[in-house]
Amino acid sequence: MNVVLGVGGGIAAYKAAELARALMERGANVQVVLTSSAAEFIRPLTFAALTNRKVITDLFGSSSADEILSSSVEHIRVAQDNDVLVVAPATADLIAKFAAGLAPDFLTTLYLAFTGKVILAPAMNTNMWNHPATQENIEKLAARGNYILPPDEGLLACGTTGAGRLPDPVRIAEAVVSIGHPRKDLDGETILITAGPTQEAIDPVRFISNHSSGKMGYSIAAAAACRGARVILVSGPVNLPAPYGVELVPVKSAGEMRDAVMRHLPAATIIIKSAAVADYHVANPAPQKLKKTPARMSLELDPTVDILAEVGRNKGDRLLIGFAAETQNLVAEGRRKMETKNADMVVANLVSKEGIGFGADVNEVTLVLRTGEVIAIPRATKRAVADQIFDHALNLRLALHARS
Ligand code: CTP
Repeated sequence: MNVVLGVGGGIAAYKAAELARALMERGANVQVVLTSSAAEFIRPLTFAALTNRKVITDLFGSSSADEILSSSVEHIRVAQDNDVLVVAPATADLIAKFAAGLAPDFLTTLYLAFTGKVILAPAMNTNMWNHPATQENIEKLAARGNYILPPDEGLLACGTTGAGRLPDPVRIAEAVVSIGHPRKDLDGETILITAGPTQEAIDPVRFISNHSSGKMGYSIAAAAACRGARVILVSGPVNLPAPYGVELVPVKSAGEMRDAVMRHLPAATIIIKSAAVADYHVANPAPQKLKKTPARMSLELDPTVDILAEVGRNKGDRLLIGFAAETQNLVAEGRRKMETKNADMVVANLVSKEGIGFGADVNEVTLVLRTGEVIAIPRATKRAVADQIFDHALNLRLALHARS
């Protein structure tokens, strides 16, 4: 994917260097364009070194007639060669110029010549962001089809607290990759995904849970959104931001997860149950904090509802994918869970294996399919594994339809 990164002249300009790197790590070719005020905040050399490319700094910055002539058409070449234009930080001034169609420099000229997707990440002082002039400009740009990544709230460089901070560069990069992703083979699908652990209350301050980080489920959600699906992510408590474009439904307990899944099931075409759901919940959680005593205490536990099995009984012609976290007999256990819970595929992984356990960024799984096939997916990032799960899921659905 070819991306132009336009950098405006705001204090957050330094974060654009991290964004350039995050985009390249996700496989994008990055051409940086700095406004002249951005070049006051951060040197073009920083970006040239990071992207290994000449940085464009201004429209008529060159001096010789030849250079002026070649740079005067450069904005057209850059506009034609790139799929996405992301502007971060997009200052109030740039936003106003884009909205009005003014083109006094390279970046604003490029904006007018650009026919690909435009993503704007505004960052400025809270009052400037909230000003009706900025808000009207933003509405205008959004109505034009530009993607707006709203600023985060937090402590700003001017010492005040409020909306205006540039979002984390990694989140901006994820959004750029998602919006600009060329493969939209999940367009039209509604994918219901569960992720993370559940928490079963003992009393108002204590709970029973497990080590699930949610990374696999969130990677699946990000991959699905990138490939064009509507994604509903029912998530237990985790420490991860919701991937771009995903509808997050936060839950705590297995009971809440079950209710959320059943509520969203009618809309879903594919269900992926990657959550590590507690198998038991405390029979009678205490309404007040339990006080310690010297005596031994025991907790009475009741089984939770098996959500995957319940969905399996009500799935209709939806594709149902479960997970199996095992410490031995991977394929046999995966197959048993697929049969007993009426899933179409089980993603089985050895949670005890070095390097791929809970919280890791990589995974190595075995897919057990209703067709009888067993497919080993070698160690890769969870995001790459997620894409392969979808590749096989789409093939599986075709095979199952062909049979029926
Ligand atoms: N699952 C579920 N509801 C539960 C327990 C599990 O929906 N109450 C789902 C998980 O999300 C996963 C699959 O069932 O997709 C298998 O989970 P796992 O913990 O591996 O298996 P269990 O059914 O709990 O079996 P066991 O404890 O015997 O391994």
